[in-house]
Amino acid sequence: MSNNLNLFSRYYKTHGMKIFLYPEVMYRWMLNKRDARNRPIFVKSRPNIIQIELTNICNLSCKHCYRHLTKQQLGYMKKDVFEKIISEFKSPVSIGLYGTGESMLHPEFFDFVEYARKRHRFSTITLTTNGTLLNETSAQKIIGLRIDKICISLDAATPETYVKTRGKDSFNQILEGIRILINAREKMHSKTPLVGVNFVILEENKKEILDFVKLTVSLGVDFIGTLRFPLPISPEGAYIDKSKTSLEGIYNQLVEAKKYIETRKLFIKESLIQNPETVFNFGDRKGFFCSAPWEYPQITWEGEVTPCCVIPFSEVYSLGNIGKSSFGEIWNNPEICAFRRKIKKSIPPINWCKKCFY
Ligand SMILES: C[S@@+](CC[C@H](N)C(=O)[O-])C[C@H]1O[C@@H](n2cnc3c(N)ncnc32)[C@H](O)[C@@H]1O
Ligand code: SF4
Ligand code: SF4
Repeated sequence: MSNNLNLFSRYYKTHGMKIFLYPEVMYRWMLNKRDARNRPIFVKSRPNIIQIELTNICNLSCKHCYRHLTKQQLGYMKKDVFEKIISEFKSPVSIGLYGTGESMLHPEFFDFVEYARKRHRFSTITLTTNGTLLNETSAQKIIGLRIDKICISLDAATPETYVKTRGKDSFNQILEGIRILINAREKMHSKTPLVGVNFVILEENKKEILDFVKLTVSLGVDFIGTLRFPLPISPEGAYIDKSKTSLEGIYNQLVEAKKYIETRKLFIKESLIQNPETVFNFGDRKGFFCSAPWEYPQITWEGEVTPCCVIPFSEVYSLGNIGKSSFGEIWNNPEICAFRRKIKKSIPPINWCKKCFY
């Protein structure tokens, strides 16, 4: 019971009231949570999050981004593929618009959001973006179309560091975009989107964690979405080398950050700030566990379904293509069943999973 209450409370703070208002969505959410916990091979519920990559094209070149690892063709998701995905689901809990590129660059981005919103009034639509395209016009559309939650990746607390982590001098412009969005939300008397920011800890920004948290508060955002170390699948040079880096320095900032936010209105989604001591376990493997192919598969711009957002490239692994089969068929096809079976036996199904510590 208290487990369920915790889950509801986390959901509420990052997604708002929605799940409590619509019993049908809440019911689906609980069914999938149960499957993610019990991990049956054949999954009757639909995933709680459908992650859709609208494009793998990007206007930044972040040092740590795993998109540098692919030689995959670049492109934009076609309208018919998007509509097929969206129309196959009945009141999905959450539709996540992100992948290995910048979703807002898609020329039909707002048409797609409008389509998803019309089909699924009760679903949570979330966007992870680099924020470079936030301005008065896009802010009004984001609010008008009821995108529920937006996470903006910053990875810096100063313009100088931003250039080093994200490859372009766009820091101040993005901060301005965040302010515009928050002001527009107030002017339009809207509760959405909830606005959050992300930070991946890198050599270049590791001394700016506390400043980033303070900046976050001064911007008036609602939550920190992720504040984490790079994934082990990161490109060369981005993954923090535990033996060469002072984790103590990072730990001390997190302890300060935790104190700083105690009296302030900011929700932290991930655990590094809540539990600074976990910093010292960074990179340690605790045995293989994964629930991704039960609750959050990814669909690439080409319509390839992969088990999770950590396998964002179909050249690494694909369960099937939305153009050839329905999502329902792919969701329990022999490939995904074999994949789940291995995970249940704590065997990483593919080499990529061996590197992943999710
Ligand atoms: C791949 S990006 C796509 C969305 C958008 N372009 C953005 O930057 O927010 C989604 C998130 O993954 C993070 N990310 C990219 N590569 C990563 C890595 N190697 N380890 C951890 N997070 C990573 C980004 O910083 C961003 O917050
Ligand atoms: S993290 Fe986002 S903005 Fe940066 S290169 Fe990757 S897709 Fe582009
Ligand atoms: S273990 Fe494999 S399936 Fe699970 S999140 Fe990692 S890469 Fe994805």
